[in-house]
Amino acid sequence: TQVKRISVPQLMAYKGQRKIAALTAYSAPFARLLDEALDMILIGDSTAMVAYALPDTLSITVEQMAAHAAAVVRSTSHACVIVDMPFGSYQESPRQAFANAARMLAASGADGIKMEGGIALADTTRFLVERGIPVLAHVGLMPQYVNTMGGFKAQGMTEESAERILRDAQAHQEAGAFAVVLEGIAEPLGRRITDALAIPTIGIGASPACDGQILVTEDILGLSGDRIPKFARRFADVGGMIKAAAGQYAQDVREGRFPGLEHCFGVKKPDSP
Ligand code: KIV
Ligand code: NA
Repeated sequence: TQVKRISVPQLMAYKGQRKIAALTAYSAPFARLLDEALDMILIGDSTAMVAYALPDTLSITVEQMAAHAAAVVRSTSHACVIVDMPFGSYQESPRQAFANAARMLAASGADGIKMEGGIALADTTRFLVERGIPVLAHVGLMPQYVNTMGGFKAQGMTEESAERILRDAQAHQEAGAFAVVLEGIAEPLGRRITDALAIPTIGIGASPACDGQILVTEDILGLSGDRIPKFARRFADVGGMIKAAAGQYAQDVREGRFPGLEHCFGVKKPDSP
């Protein structure tokens, strides 16, 4: 019997019951491999930096995000799949956000969308949720604000900033967000927001007290270069394995050890009839 994919209401019900384990995926092979272990997969706009080697997330488009999301949905059957709204696709108005979110969900079959923004974006969250689009809010360090922040900087260091981030999260909860990503915030703010909200908090560089955790998959697999963010941990060196395999392959090709006759068409095996 086909078990159904984890739904948005199921994720919400995990609050206080079990932690939400989430990672990013942009492509079919990663999505296929991650699906079984995870509760949620995010097609993050971090794909701009991770997969396209861009300096920030600002230039990825709705079409690109929808194409990556479609590949992830086609390659999964267990995890709830959420897709990031790219910069410029939702900030103008709730109507613009709805139109682009609906396009992305229609094109991909994803379960919901994520948007970065504080209290000013809460009306947009409400507009989408009231029209059938689940919204994952994202407050704290918001990479799409790189130019107003003047870089990627941890947030909530002062009491004033911490209060503002708590109010941002509460505003999205009141607007109907099903959960909120807390990125790059100083402890104990992550714990404080998690205690204050009825919806799950999903941390990245936030707090062990969050209701769940999300990271960029490449960061935990040794696939994002030598520098690993402070908030990540390398769980495996897949990067090292890929380098070693590519080196072995190249050596075998150059030295005539690959391919062999067994890889050729039209060559009968010695023992075949
Ligand atoms: O784009 C992304 O990957 C994200 C998270 C890791 C939360 O927004
Ligand atoms: Na993102």
